[in-house]
Amino acid sequence: MESFIIEGRKNLEGIVDIGGSKNAALPILASTVISGREYIIENIPDIEDVRDMFEILTIMGCKIQFDNGIALIDTRNITTHAVPEKQVRKIRSSIILMGAVLLRTGKVEITYPGGCEIGLRPIDLHLKGLKKLGVELLEKNGLLVGSVKEPLGCEIQLDYPSVGATENIMLFAVGISGKTVIYNSAKEPEIVDLQNFLNACGYSVSGAGTGTITIEGNTNQVTETVEYKIISDRIEAGTYLSAAASMKSKIYIRNIEKTHFKSITSVYEDAGCEIRETHGTIVVSNNSRLNAIEKVTTQPYPGFPTDMQAQFMASMSVANGTTIIEETVFDSRFKHVPELQKMGADITTVGRVAVIDGVPRLHGAEVYAKDLRGGAALVIAALGAEGITKVNNIYHLNRGYEKFMEKLRNLGVIITTID
Ligand code: UD1
Repeated sequence: MESFIIEGRKNLEGIVDIGGSKNAALPILASTVISGREYIIENIPDIEDVRDMFEILTIMGCKIQFDNGIALIDTRNITTHAVPEKQVRKIRSSIILMGAVLLRTGKVEITYPGGCEIGLRPIDLHLKGLKKLGVELLEKNGLLVGSVKEPLGCEIQLDYPSVGATENIMLFAVGISGKTVIYNSAKEPEIVDLQNFLNACGYSVSGAGTGTITIEGNTNQVTETVEYKIISDRIEAGTYLSAAASMKSKIYIRNIEKTHFKSITSVYEDAGCEIRETHGTIVVSNNSRLNAIEKVTTQPYPGFPTDMQAQFMASMSVANGTTIIEETVFDSRFKHVPELQKMGADITTVGRVAVIDGVPRLHGAEVYAKDLRGGAALVIAALGAEGITKVNNIYHLNRGYEKFMEKLRNLGVIITTID
């Protein structure tokens, strides 16, 4: 398995172009299944999770060509309602196919999804929402088997603004009779992007981003070709921001909507990092050690994202003072802590709370990526560390970061891979 070898303490300088959003692309790709037609989708990140989603769609009968961030997808010949098990286990977001496949074929067979091991990731809210819309669901030999019986729009109150549950409900409700209203829906920019995509497909969705989404079901078959461009990845941008903020640097982050990652930039600004925008480019400059932040709590959007918690922890490991991070979204998302400790970080965890006493400098070590964002945190830590760091299991990083090594090299990082 491949590892990164990173030489620490080189200043970061240069330009980084942000790719398409992973968490917007995956549900949008899943939603191409809803109606049989052709799509031209731009700004799709070339990452393993996307490749796995393409594989699932291809096995199910779709034709896909993917080149230079643009996918041509033809979903007219979907041949099955069974979503292939091996690939579903690899990516959590494949569960979004449940709503889409149910709508298209009236049935579904899908296994429980995989993805990052970051604690319990139940899907009870997905199931509850779909059942309310008229889907019958049962478990058979470890598979979820669903069939549609007289589906009808209704009001759904989510107990928690789950991103995936909101998406799954949207993808089924758009094509059934009646109006569906999702209360306490997730507000993430990726949900707004999904709404925009569905509307570009001829469906009628409004309210995404506000916490209440209204869907006027449209049972007419719509078949004309759809063209769409996916938003940029705010977590990828936040990761490069974290890297720059953790050491001496001046980097230009291009192709990012600043409002989407305001909750990230504002925390780094509070820590003393200079962040400004010129002509649509975010300029991050840092000359001195960051200051600790008393407490940061991860929350659903527009709060500080759980997907930035690990990278932020790496930054705070070398800040001046003590930072407390509370992880409220997932129950087991501190797997990067023992690895950061191997590099000299002073971190104590109690349940979902981590206390980080900043040290002046980390040192290189052999560490293991345990999940996607935790792996990114180790790379960030390595950039500022004294000596050489070997980050193992970088397949986790390939799941969600496009051309990670190439982009870091463009910023002056000395990084190679070995098997
Ligand atoms: C999505 C993102 C992921 C991000 C997360 C939170 C994608 C592909 N992934 O994941 O990167 O970290 O949002 O911003 O978009 N929950 C339940 N029951 C459910 C569903 C969720 O209890 O039916 C819980 C989860 O266990 C978790 C929390 O709700 O503790 C948040 O999950 P959710 O918002 O659904 O995240 P994902 O859609 O899995």
